Amino acid sequence: MAVAFGLTAVLLAVQGVSASFFSLPRTYPNITACASEPITYSCENTTAIQNTCCSPTPGGLVLQTQFWDTYTGFEKKGQLLPKDSWTIHGLWPDNCDGSYEQYCDLSRQYDPNPSPSVLPDGTTVPAYTGPGVDTFVAEFGRLDLLAYMNKYWVSQGSPNADFWGHEFAKHATCTSTFDVACYGHDYKKNQDVVDFFDAVVRAFKMYPTFDMLAASGILPSNKTTYSLSRIQAALKAQTGAIPYLGCGQNGTVLQEVWYFSHVLGSEQFGHYNSVDSTTKSSCSTTAGIHYYERTPSSEREVRVLP
Ligand SMILES: *[C@@H]1O[C@H](CO)[C@@H](O)[C@H](O)[C@H]1NC(C)=O
Ligand SMILES: *[C@@H]1O[C@H](CO)[C@@H](O)[C@H](O)[C@H]1NC(C)=O
Ligand SMILES: *[C@@H]1O[C@H](CO)[C@@H](O)[C@H](O)[C@H]1NC(C)=O
Ligand SMILES: *[C@@H]1O[C@H](CO)[C@@H](O)[C@H](O)[C@H]1NC(C)=O
Repeated sequence: MAVAFGLTAVLLAVQGVSASFFSLPRTYPNITACASEPITYSCENTTAIQNTCCSPTPGGLVLQTQFWDTYTGFEKKGQLLPKDSWTIHGLWPDNCDGSYEQYCDLSRQYDPNPSPSVLPDGTTVPAYTGPGVDTFVAEFGRLDLLAYMNKYWVSQGSPNADFWGHEFAKHATCTSTFDVACYGHDYKKNQDVVDFFDAVVRAFKMYPTFDMLAASGILPSNKTTYSLSRIQAALKAQTGAIPYLGCGQNGTVLQEVWYFSHVLGSEQFGHYNSVDSTTKSSCSTTAGIHYYERTPSSEREVRVLP
């Protein structure tokens, strides 16, 4: 008893010390006010959502998008694909009907190659020429996040940081829960950018495409093909909904997946509920689909193996 009591006292003392000497970094929006909002999924009762910091509005149809690339074109610069994993494309805020906005806040334009460079209303999106968004992540001390992004958020044909800046500027600026106004009075510049990257990684981890397909016997192969319905069934069995599958070469080469969700709460912290794709697959419904093996020199081991 005496020993146990002594240990507890020491632990309490340690906790007391840490509570007074360290404070948690505020790298998230202020969701204090969200506790009094109605609890509803995005797109499921839009009249209920008043505080757009608490739920993505109007972009409440949230897409976590991924690529299956077989090379990057930047191998010589060390930009390699993660073995046994798809890669991150982004996290997009579609309107509930599947339409979408883009480049919504030009004061947060970090895309060196805007695409499109002119918006439908005629607004020009100026190219960004400042430091890469990777430096923003480093300035917040998030080397863990940067390392993860370099492993799993790999660009084809451009440096990773350009791609990340593109995804933030084009999509996150149209996602209401990343609005600067949601961060409160102690907002630190680029906190929203780092926060978005964290949210993208969190959402990506909800959809381990490689593993879900592998568990269903669907592995990359340069010898066999798979039917679209079999690929869809494998993913639906784990997510509850049919994602969008994108194919190239006239619908015969698997390249992309988009998982659609309604989100309860914010994109940062909330719960994602899978819904069927609003976009028809570009993969052939009749021809076999190639899920190609990668060029071995284009990928690297990213897991810690025993
Ligand atoms: C939608 O939200 C409003 C406001 O909170 C509520 O009055 C209404 O009953 C909700 N509708 C449905 C279908 O849940
Ligand atoms: C967070 O929001 C609450 C309620 O709106 C407010 O009282 C508080 O001051 C805000 N905190 C910060 C750090 O902005
Ligand atoms: C593309 O696929 C369609 C439908 O499967 C087929 O009718 C057409 O001939 C194909 N085109 C080419 C160029 O292979
Ligand atoms: C598989 O085929 C793809 C597409 O032709 C090619 O890029 C890749 O290098 C091949 N991989 C292997 C391991 O043969």
